[in-house]
Amino acid sequence: MMRFIVLIFFGIACVANVHGSSSVIVPDTMDERVKACTICHGAEDEAGRDAYYPRIAGKPQGYLFNQLRNFRDGRRYYQPMNILLENMSDDYLQSIAHHFASLQLPYPAPESFVMQPEEIELAERFIYSGNAQKDVPACSACHGDNLMGIEPAIPGLIGLSRAYITAQLGGWRKGSIIRGQASDCMSEIARQLTDHEADTIAKWLANQPVAGEASPLTALSPELAQRCHHHIQENGGVR
Ligand code: HEC
Ligand code: HEC
Repeated sequence: MMRFIVLIFFGIACVANVHGSSSVIVPDTMDERVKACTICHGAEDEAGRDAYYPRIAGKPQGYLFNQLRNFRDGRRYYQPMNILLENMSDDYLQSIAHHFASLQLPYPAPESFVMQPEEIELAERFIYSGNAQKDVPACSACHGDNLMGIEPAIPGLIGLSRAYITAQLGGWRKGSIIRGQASDCMSEIARQLTDHEADTIAKWLANQPVAGEASPLTALSPELAQRCHHHIQENGGVR
């Protein structure tokens, strides 16, 4: 891992050098600047969905910006990313978010976990109907009817690996340093899920092929927008 991190620093140093040295011929474009990112977030997603690294291309810009800020400011933890983003300004993070949000890349094939009929039923009930007793709205009410997200700040749930989804839900549920230190609408929902429910939902989501695009903010009810106002109003996707 250390060798990996050193490599990344080397990559950044080369790009940073463009300003100071006339002998370096790397052009200072966004494509060059984000090379350090695509080592892990594969430009082509060639690693497939088995890899833990989440896909970031094509996600809503406001959502990506929120996450970059969370890593930079230590609200979300994955050491190589915390280090990489440490000194970047909000404006710079916003342009990186814009770059990845507008990238259109093919998606890898879905995973194929075997599921029992009762597991499928359980997952689909949470995803499309929610659970009123637990105060969990349908996942689709916030993540879009097609589960491809709602602009500007709610990500899609399709196209992610089971391992990644389970880790995120686990982070929120256990309040871990990955993601769950601050309570928000998503952490409140994740905390209502049992281990079995979270894993079953993750398997179901990872089995679905990607189809369609994120919906506009009008697809979100005012009540749910209010429930998630931390995520939605903080940047509003309008900067
Ligand atoms: C060493 C590998 C590595 C590098 C380099 C890296 N990332 Fe990440 N990134 C990850 C991992 C792993 C996660 C998931 C961490 C977690 O579990 O929360 C992640 C998460 C993210 C997320 C959140 C995705 C989501 O759906 O919530 C964004 C956005 C992101 N990275 C952007 C970037 C950008 C931009 C760069 C370059 C400046 C970068 N990453 C460099 C490995 C990497
Ligand atoms: C009240 C609205 C709401 C509901 C309902 C909801 N979510 Fe979310 N979800 C969000 C928001 C907002 C985010 C972005 C959180 C952030 O910015 O850190 C999110 C993020 C996520 C992520 C992270 C995706 C990534 O790329 O890292 C996962 C996984 C997730 N939700 C799963 C679910 C599941 C499963 C359900 C149903 C059981 C669900 N959500 C229901 C609002 C909601």
